Amino acid sequence: MPVLFITMLCHKYHCFISRIERILGINTLEMDNQNIPITANTQMPRIGDVAPAFVAETTQGTIHFPEDYTGKWVILFSHPADFTPVCTTEFMTFASMQDTFKSLRCELIGLSVDSLYSHIAWLRTIKEKISFKDMRNVEVTFPLIDDIRMEVAMKYGMIQPNESNTKAVRAVFFIDPAGKIRAMVYYPLSTGRNFDELKRVLIALQTADAFGIATPADWKPGDDVIVPPAGSCGVAKERMQSKEDGMYCIDWFFCMKPLDQEKIDSLFIRKDELVLN
Ligand code: BEZ
Repeated sequence: MPVLFITMLCHKYHCFISRIERILGINTLEMDNQNIPITANTQMPRIGDVAPAFVAETTQGTIHFPEDYTGKWVILFSHPADFTPVCTTEFMTFASMQDTFKSLRCELIGLSVDSLYSHIAWLRTIKEKISFKDMRNVEVTFPLIDDIRMEVAMKYGMIQPNESNTKAVRAVFFIDPAGKIRAMVYYPLSTGRNFDELKRVLIALQTADAFGIATPADWKPGDDVIVPPAGSCGVAKERMQSKEDGMYCIDWFFCMKPLDQEKIDSLFIRKDELVLN
């Protein structure tokens, strides 16, 4: 009888705490799939949210986010650990594409749950010893956050305890010049990211903002874009009769058009070079 009473009491306590935690977006009582208590704040930012602010030590000095990045796009990404092979190939690729991202007015910030000294040693090793595909002697000059206490990783939902509760997953946040999260991509530990896709997403977001359009499946720069759906019967009818320049409709809700090349050039040409390719 006392055992039954205690069991019931515990159950009620667990339910009460779980409910409070659900409201607060934290989770301390549940176990992950290795029966380790999940103590991480599992709340994740969402598309459209203001990107969480932070101050962090990095391989390029202290950064204050978002103040230090006012007016710029930012790709904030996490990787599981220093001195691991997939992460090494990713860092070399990001570093090799840094100028391209800069041309797109986008800065890179990396993060892992490692110390600053580990970061420095790893980046030195990459430069001095590692070659991958046609990349060698690669210097990583974008900041890599020391997040040994997981403070930034927690704010961004980068620790996903059923994948790993000591390593960040491969998260990528696209943050716009107004400091809003515009897209997020998460990969598991075992899968290296596709950098052409990351670049494509950034260009698609910038194109959508500049032209007020949307981009269809597998869109790439130069392809036709989607005109936002008609908001009235009159517009739907007009569109079917193709009254707008260059626009063509597959149905009343589904219209496409090419983009004005001059406007694209003014948006994306830097130092006489088109950065879309
Ligand atoms: C890697 O980057 O190679 C890696 C990191 C963590 C788990 C598995 C692979």
